[in-house]
Amino acid sequence: MTQLVALRRSRAAGNADRQRSEAEGVAGALVGRGAPGRTVYIETYGCQMNIGDTELMAGVLADAGYARVDDPGRADVILVNTCAIREHAENRVLGRLGQLQRYRDRHADLLIGVTGCMAQRLGEALLQGAYGVDLVAGPDAYRSIGWMVDGMRRGAVEKGQALLALDADEDYGGLRAIRGEGVSAWVTVQRGCDHRCTFCIVPYVRGPEKNRAFSEVVGEVEEAVAAGYSEVTLLGQTVNSYRSGDGDFADLLHAVARVPGLRRVRFTSPHPNDVTERLLETMASEPAVCPQLHLPVQSGSDRILKRMVRRYTRRDFLEKVDLARRIVPDIALSTDIIVGFSGEMEADFEATLSLLAAVRFDDAYLYKYSRRGGTPATRLPAADDVPAAVAQTRLERTIELQRGIQLSVNRAEVGAVREVLTERIARSAGDLLGRTARNKVVAFRGPADWIGTYRRVRLTATSGATFTGAVA
Ligand code: SAH
Ligand code: F3S
Repeated sequence: MTQLVALRRSRAAGNADRQRSEAEGVAGALVGRGAPGRTVYIETYGCQMNIGDTELMAGVLADAGYARVDDPGRADVILVNTCAIREHAENRVLGRLGQLQRYRDRHADLLIGVTGCMAQRLGEALLQGAYGVDLVAGPDAYRSIGWMVDGMRRGAVEKGQALLALDADEDYGGLRAIRGEGVSAWVTVQRGCDHRCTFCIVPYVRGPEKNRAFSEVVGEVEEAVAAGYSEVTLLGQTVNSYRSGDGDFADLLHAVARVPGLRRVRFTSPHPNDVTERLLETMASEPAVCPQLHLPVQSGSDRILKRMVRRYTRRDFLEKVDLARRIVPDIALSTDIIVGFSGEMEADFEATLSLLAAVRFDDAYLYKYSRRGGTPATRLPAADDVPAAVAQTRLERTIELQRGIQLSVNRAEVGAVREVLTERIARSAGDLLGRTARNKVVAFRGPADWIGTYRRVRLTATSGATFTGAVA
């Protein structure tokens, strides 16, 4: 008989827990009647939106009677929610799928599914032999995942299906996510993307931009607060291009920031072009909006920005940075960089380094270009490809530069007292980990029951990337 695992109580008690225990109750009752066990293990790769999507699927599956467990060895269904952004991300999942097959030895009826962007990109190919996958579901198919999984397990639906239709109207309105552990809630406000950055697979695997209604977003934030969360992060591929009948992203942020009981709101990922004065003014004037902005620049060279179809120049971007710093003086800025994109010459790369040196971002995510089948960049002349060894050296040089910048930026903050939301227990004994409003991670001493609470912490030292601190 399938054993149901007792789920750890999340800090944010309330709706989510109630739904979970209802799901466990249903699953328990069915197991009692001899029906196939109903537990699901979901493993998440990739961006924050995938964490949100996993929570959405957990909600849909709970409605179908499936309780989420945190051990694949105890699960009747294993789902791997995947990312397609770089080849490396996909290779990790393929390796993991191989490992997961061993659970079939102990569980003859185990169902293994792949969801998310890689599922959408590779589609039916994943159902073939070697991968050992029973179900493939793309980002617009999650509403069906409950009955599909259950139907396959009961033998009513044939295994080996791929749900790949992209649906321009599917924004998952009316569904309720079951949030995982953590003190911060993810709220998706927008799905898909209308840009066509030439390197990027997202528009092809997630379809065109779709925005949720204002009232739905605000309602979900209110529910999260009622469930005990005091921090939310609004998610979208170009979140600040959000627009609905009720207003634009600045209006939405304003409305969310005013939800009673919400102490912090963040958002990711914005597109630099849609960072408006109104948005920055909302950030400056609403105390709940964290002074933190991710501004993915990708390259510092106009030639490369043009080949990427980013639709801004280096100068436009630097002006945006100045505007942000003028309106929100204490703003922490982060970015994404791609090195080794098609046609990148040494001078283009140097321009990226000089941009990093000029802006001095608080944080940067640095990537080597990864060619994605189906994207416009694959049609650029092969002769323009940057050799792998050159791209690797450029990545290392970028990491070295940014490390030094981050260390000196963060050193300047040592000594300051900041409000920290305590997130979890650190790996170092006796320490907790938390985050400041400017998104800096701090380790400090304190009891576990501080998790979920705010503490005033003095930053005492930095390793470069993170801080240690002491309660002030
Ligand atoms: N707007 C999206 C961007 C998704 S991709 C968001 O929500 O963040 C995140 C980052 O991955 C991009 O900003 C880019 O720097 C990087 N990236 C995307 N496609 C890539 C590729 N083909 N190779 C390397 N890096 C890539
Ligand atoms: Fe990708 Fe560009 Fe959209 S990076 S997600 S196509 S804004």
